[in-house]
Amino acid sequence: MSEICKNWTEWLKKNRFAGQTPEMVEQTTRWLEAVRDVILVYAEIKPYDVVLDIGTGTGLLAFKALEMQDCKGKVIFSDKFQDCLDDCKKILDEAGITTGYEMIQCPCEHIALPESSVHKALMRSVLVHIVNKQPAVSEVYRVLKPGGKFCAFEPIIRSNTRYWEILDPVYVEKYEDFKKVENELMDNPLDSLCNFDESTLKTNLEIAGFSIPDVRVQAVQSKYVVQPNMVKEWFVNPPSPDQPSTRERFLKYFDEQTVDKYMQDVQNYLTGREIQLKSNAVFINATK
Ligand SMILES: C[S@@+](CC[C@H](N)C(=O)[O-])C[C@H]1O[C@@H](n2cnc3c(N)ncnc32)[C@H](O)[C@@H]1O
Repeated sequence: MSEICKNWTEWLKKNRFAGQTPEMVEQTTRWLEAVRDVILVYAEIKPYDVVLDIGTGTGLLAFKALEMQDCKGKVIFSDKFQDCLDDCKKILDEAGITTGYEMIQCPCEHIALPESSVHKALMRSVLVHIVNKQPAVSEVYRVLKPGGKFCAFEPIIRSNTRYWEILDPVYVEKYEDFKKVENELMDNPLDSLCNFDESTLKTNLEIAGFSIPDVRVQAVQSKYVVQPNMVKEWFVNPPSPDQPSTRERFLKYFDEQTVDKYMQDVQNYLTGREIQLKSNAVFINATK
């Protein structure tokens, strides 16, 4: 686990907002709710459906599904990590909710449920943390009932704006060296964060058995003025509790002094500037 983030619950509650202004935190929260709502519209949840939230984290999808069912059906909170399930259970206990849900701790590559037992499988930003995505997608197919739906969202990080695209080589030492390394990092087939895109996901779904899965790309452009503390946070915050930060990734190629000088140059160049970033993601809507 990372030194600055002890587990997934902490990452979801704190680290994912690191460096954001209160206004940006609010925007991110609204955006997460909007993504959740699209997944749930796709899922067409019925009152007595068995709904499985895979990699539930802090329960973004599961809590809303539970609310939609009015606790009449069954929502299964599942995650590889117990801290996430404990956090969700605490919220349910505090709200006095005792029925309509179940908790299962398991990795999504081995879901602890029988074949054909679930009407709807939901997922948001989980495959992006798994190096080999095929076993996970095939496992989702296995647990779905015939006619059951898999509705998900995953960010396509390899098509995001890269640092070198928003920098000026005149103001950043070793710009070309860092550009080369950044591109190399994005092409690493063993890095779960960037070893896939919409077409590989579509192939994963088809191999699993989903016929004509709908994999829809959403391209988002965001624009904001870089604040003094943001650049450091981008570099030192890990993308998950168990993965290296961007700074740590660069340290595999350059010494500490060189990486810290690069971070300083990036910070000096970007602070106070308005930047425009592109980020792609996909919505999956697939039926067994
Ligand atoms: C980015 S969080 C997303 C959480 C939640 N789905 C949401 O939308 O807020 C990724 C989640 O995937 C879980 N996770 C990571 N690897 C997993 C695996 N192999 N199987 C199941 N869950 C996993 C983590 O514990 C974490 O809760």
